[in-house]
Amino acid sequence: MIKVVICGAMGRMGSTVGRLVDAAPDLALVGGVDLKRGEVFGVPVVPAEDMARLLEEKKPDVVIDFTVAPAAVKNVTTAAAHGVALVVGTTGFSADQKAEMARAIEGHVPAVISSNFSIGVNIFWQLVREAARLLPDYDIEVLEAHHRYKKDAPSGTAKTIIQILEEEVGQRPKLYGREGMMERGKEIGVHVIRGGDIVGDHAVLFAGNFETIQVSHRAYDRSVFAQGAVKATRWVVGKKPGIYSMTDVLSLSAPRSK
Ligand SMILES: NC(=O)c1ccc[n+]([C@@H]2O[C@H](COP(=O)([O-])OP(=O)(O)OC[C@H]3O[C@@H](n4cnc5c(N)ncnc54)[C@H](O)[C@@H]3O)[C@@H](O)[C@H]2O)c1
Repeated sequence: MIKVVICGAMGRMGSTVGRLVDAAPDLALVGGVDLKRGEVFGVPVVPAEDMARLLEEKKPDVVIDFTVAPAAVKNVTTAAAHGVALVVGTTGFSADQKAEMARAIEGHVPAVISSNFSIGVNIFWQLVREAARLLPDYDIEVLEAHHRYKKDAPSGTAKTIIQILEEEVGQRPKLYGREGMMERGKEIGVHVIRGGDIVGDHAVLFAGNFETIQVSHRAYDRSVFAQGAVKATRWVVGKKPGIYSMTDVLSLSAPRSK
């Protein structure tokens, strides 16, 4: 039985993951962490300052984090200090925050970190890579849309898209929205929509003369992210310390290097 603690247990993603963990015969939800004390699926939720005590008491195998970036850095550090494997889905980290998490994880615990746990998005990223490799001279625009409550922009998934594009076509200036008079240059245009209850839409447009190609993904329910996070939870147990991605979990071929 794999024992799981969820950070952000009361949130949209935390509660969706909690429902799947609670229903899985090989997983046991043993506790949650959130801003306030409470209960989810019959297990206690403690405030962040009591997380260390919860880990000592419940001895989970895996901590899953879907919170906000500054909280996730602290939660990752606490879990790693207690030797607990990690699955981190939170997005919006700065370079410094990523480095801080890497320091806490490397040499101590295994951790799967992904800006998107959906299997479809991980395939979509591969398609984006292939299209960028074949169409380096086309104009590239990245579009994403999310619900009105999403705080970070562009989404972590869009940032991963930009990283993949630049691994294939080289570094380019990024232009976040357009207004006024300007000529199109070699930039990657990035366009963000926030509204309603949109679960997560991403598209990359490659525009040439007389044709466009659009590669896109739409999530209809956040359970697609939760299912991927649960897959990563089963996978990460017993792995060597280090940072892994969903590419490792799904055994997708390693990204083609330029
Ligand atoms: N990787 C993926 O596949 C994926 C998919 C969807 C969302 N996300 C990301 O997951 C994160 C959470 O998204 P959401 O929609 O569930 O947000 P949400 O606001 O619904 O949930 C976040 C939860 O974290 C809690 N929280 C805040 N600070 C905390 C702290 N210090 N300790 C413990 N809990 C704390 C909040 O109270 C809230 O319950 C975001 O960064 C989002 O971008 C990732």
